[in-house]
Amino acid sequence: MQRLIIKGGKRLGGELTVQGAKNSALPILAACVLASGEVRLSNIPALSDVYAAIRIMNSLGVKTRFSNGVVTADASDISQVSVEEELMRRMRSSIVFLGAVLARTGECRLSFPGGCELGPRPIDMHLRALRQMGVVINEKHGELICESPHGIRGAVINLPFPSVGATENIMLCAALAEGETVINNAAREPEIDDLGRFLNKMGARVIGGSSGTVRIKGVKKLHGCEYSVMPDRICAATFMSAAAAAGGEIVLNGARAADLGAVNEVFRQAGCIVGEDRDRIFFSARTPPRAVRNITTLPYPGFPTDAQAPVMAMLCKAKGTSVVTETIFSSRFRHVDELARMGADIKTEGRTAVITGADKLYGASVVAPDLRGGAALVCAALAADGESCVSNVELIDRGYERIEKTFAALGADIKRENR
Ligand code: EPU
Repeated sequence: MQRLIIKGGKRLGGELTVQGAKNSALPILAACVLASGEVRLSNIPALSDVYAAIRIMNSLGVKTRFSNGVVTADASDISQVSVEEELMRRMRSSIVFLGAVLARTGECRLSFPGGCELGPRPIDMHLRALRQMGVVINEKHGELICESPHGIRGAVINLPFPSVGATENIMLCAALAEGETVINNAAREPEIDDLGRFLNKMGARVIGGSSGTVRIKGVKKLHGCEYSVMPDRICAATFMSAAAAAGGEIVLNGARAADLGAVNEVFRQAGCIVGEDRDRIFFSARTPPRAVRNITTLPYPGFPTDAQAPVMAMLCKAKGTSVVTETIFSSRFRHVDELARMGADIKTEGRTAVITGADKLYGASVVAPDLRGGAALVCAALAADGESCVSNVELIDRGYERIEKTFAALGADIKRENR
């Protein structure tokens, strides 16, 4: 068990380079299964979820190497069509291997995925879409046995909600299907566009990126290529939240301001200065933050649910009262009780939280409830007076590469301890 020891109250300052995006890297790693040739991916973050994806790839017979942010993957001799339950349970994103393995081999066996506890996370939209494409799916004892006796065909799929994972799974399956697939009401997150670009580099025919309607013309074969994964917009939002709460000036190299519209708007309302360059953000919080207008999490381009917890940490120190409504997941306020231990004044009712900013937060012993909730506790601890101990760091490591090193480089007093 590891924990972070943080002595808060120091202003942050300096430059950092934003890591590659976890939520882009994971479906792109699954997409490597589609290629009959070697793929070289750069800007891959060293995260426990990425290692979990690589283990799944290895178990399928994909030859992989990972060092210094570069993954090479060769799925020419893919030999397995099933993924063990233990590997599936490690993360939610394991489910996108379903579309990829089906497209490549015509069959797949796996169990329901794991992931952070954010409330029920069904995969009904994924399965309904794949059935529409000719996949026969039998669920037995928690296992999904999927076959395509008459091949996989393109289809027109109308998603009832723009699910990120379902859109990705359909894109992966459609890339090698017969005919054209159209996904209406597709997710528009920038990671969808990144996946489409990567598929096209392998020879796929995907258009529509993040437009809400994605069209995929199936091809017979995909080849190897080189690709660099987009920067992580949620990490960028987290570092800005920390600087807004603790005060300071930071430069985020590699961050794409265009992906952070709704988030940067909130920081500006809070009184922060957000300067945007093409792939750099200059962020300055010279005065304590102010309360902001109501925030409602929504599919992209709305305010991202993944940034809700870190931004809430900033609002705990903002002068005035702010209201945050979470509409994407039913149980994504588990950081609230932990923030309260640090002196935060937050009242929740259902999916709405009312945050009244406190002049001071105090160091405390807190437990990361999930990945982004854990990152929020780190942001609050950096802004708090005194020492905090954040345990369950393993959950934070799912999405942030050595978070203590990033903040230490910005001048924070933070270290990791083994217990
Ligand atoms: N949903 C269904 N049925 C489905 C699929 C989704 O009801 O078949 C519901 C979910 O239960 C949820 C909502 O739709 O209430 C949104 O789910 P979505 O499928 O869009 O999310 P996801 O693909 O499971 C990805 C990210 C999440 C991020 C969400 C929303 C990855 C690996 N995960 O999850 O990231 O919160 O999109 O943007 O890309 C994180 O990084 O901390 C994280 C949780």
